[in-house]
Amino acid sequence: MRILMVCLGNICRSPLAEGIMKSKVAQNGLNWTVDSAGTGGWHSGELPDPRSRSTARQHGIDISDQRARQFRPQDFDDFDRIFVMDSQNFRDVIRQARNESDSLKVSLMLEESHPGENRSVPDPYYDDDGFEQVYQMLDDACHAFVERNIRV
Ligand code: 4NP
Repeated sequence: MRILMVCLGNICRSPLAEGIMKSKVAQNGLNWTVDSAGTGGWHSGELPDPRSRSTARQHGIDISDQRARQFRPQDFDDFDRIFVMDSQNFRDVIRQARNESDSLKVSLMLEESHPGENRSVPDPYYDDDGFEQVYQMLDDACHAFVERNIRV
């Protein structure tokens, strides 16, 4: 299984999602690949936001080895599942799909924990207090995904 987490800047939400999923992959001894990217390239090469790094650290997860990069159509070939954080990310990624097989790989991350509810992970960039809530949402969603796919 190759999983890509996608948000807008690849500095707040998707680095947390990558770190959380990698932690569960390691805990379960799974041979999965996990990466993250942003639909925008403004932060390419940057470390995750300090607030994402500290929130992850509070949960025992180190995401300081990550560097932001922009999503590219090649990612449809390199990954089996592409989890987007919100509906704008969904539109921005789907627009780059080259065929139906590409499109079918893309879904909202919170569909894993709340199927059919079309929920988005809120952008915490302008909300210092939002990071822990984002962490909990992503932890629930990653947990649900791993439980559902662990024996596949
Ligand atoms: P992210 O958050 O998409 O969760 O990484 C953001 C990071 C940067 C910006 C917006 C959202 N920005 O406008 O620079």
